Amino acid sequence: MTEALIAPHGGKLINREAAGDEATSLQEKAKSLPLLRLTSRALSDLELIANGGLSPLEGFMTQAQYRSVVEEMHLPNGDVWSLPVTAAASREDADSYKDGQQIALAGESGEPLALLDLEERFDYDKQAEAEQVYRTTEDAHPGVAALYAQGEVLLGGKVTVFRQPSEAFAEYRLTPAQTRAAFTERGWSTVVGFQTRNPVHRAHEYIQKTAMEIVDGLLLHPLVGDTKEGDIPPDVRMKCYQVLLDGYYPSDRVLLSVLPAAMRYAGPREAIFHALVRKNYGCSHFIVGRDHAGVGSYYGTYDAQKIFEEFTPEELGMTPLFFEHSFFCRSCQGMASSKTCPHDADQRVFLSGTKVREMLAAGEAPPPEFSRPEVAQVLIDSMRGNEVKAPAGGSGGGA
Ligand code: ADX
Repeated sequence: MTEALIAPHGGKLINREAAGDEATSLQEKAKSLPLLRLTSRALSDLELIANGGLSPLEGFMTQAQYRSVVEEMHLPNGDVWSLPVTAAASREDADSYKDGQQIALAGESGEPLALLDLEERFDYDKQAEAEQVYRTTEDAHPGVAALYAQGEVLLGGKVTVFRQPSEAFAEYRLTPAQTRAAFTERGWSTVVGFQTRNPVHRAHEYIQKTAMEIVDGLLLHPLVGDTKEGDIPPDVRMKCYQVLLDGYYPSDRVLLSVLPAAMRYAGPREAIFHALVRKNYGCSHFIVGRDHAGVGSYYGTYDAQKIFEEFTPEELGMTPLFFEHSFFCRSCQGMASSKTCPHDADQRVFLSGTKVREMLAAGEAPPPEFSRPEVAQVLIDSMRGNEVKAPAGGSGGGA
């Protein structure tokens, strides 16, 4: 008999989705309520609250939750939580609402998707949030810039989603309940989750496969919400993952699914968030490599690993797997890291994100030691079809 999967964070998978008649009646009700358009980042959060990806959260954070998360990295009930999950409104909109009322939430199109049971409205200090969560107040940081651009007042309260915010990658857009069911069906009890926002390269493959040696299966879980300007779009990345899986992975040991979250680029704090979210999706293990969720030089290479020391294994309730910076070594004739390879730097194939983008834009494939030729071809084809938008600048992730 298969052992049970890991418990969701907080013990229970939250479900804030309305279906059938309930959804129809909420949709009707929403027409008479004030309407708040959410940012696309908050929209991603909305979907994840509703499907249980952000369990134990049942809505956008109230003031007590927000303060406790920003300052202590815990929810008031003691559960670990590292990133604020908030709905911001302009002061004018916020002043027009009353605590205790319901508000319809919409995306950019203005089509109502959910109801917010508004518990409270509160002011917050964006600079303080930036400093604590992002470790910088510079607006050159994309996560900080998004924070500074949002409304002045936060709205806390539970949400109920009656219409899915997005159906992109529908076939791969599995909810936590669905990934859990898929794991159980395959007889997996230990599953390693892999977060990524970049096209897959050999170092990714190496750390995934190293982890796969000790667990039953891999959840390859690319993030498909907002990423920063210059990152490779998710449809191209999905093609890369597909060709890689087709050629190099046993199909019965990998599940490819997407995470509809937005990137915050909050480095260490986001690594904790990414791990807990994957725990909700049923992962017992989670990979944290070099500069996880980092951007530019805001975080040290291993800061996103060090932050895990601030929590006990019991309160995390899952196992992070840490990996050193990995590379192909010509002398070893294989993938390695400084933990396993004694050779000098000149034997190690390393290309910066910027260099790889330049090569791809010029129609040149990076060396096979860096990127599988099939993956490089997908990237070159996408650049050719999209020459005007060929991104400039590095991702910092070595992709
Ligand atoms: S991230 O923003 O999602 O972290 P990316 O998609 O590049 O960016 O990384 C996915 C995961 O692979 C992260 O855990 C990251 O730390 C890890 N990683 C990326 N490149 C390497 C590398 N060369 N060596 C070790 N780990 C890496």
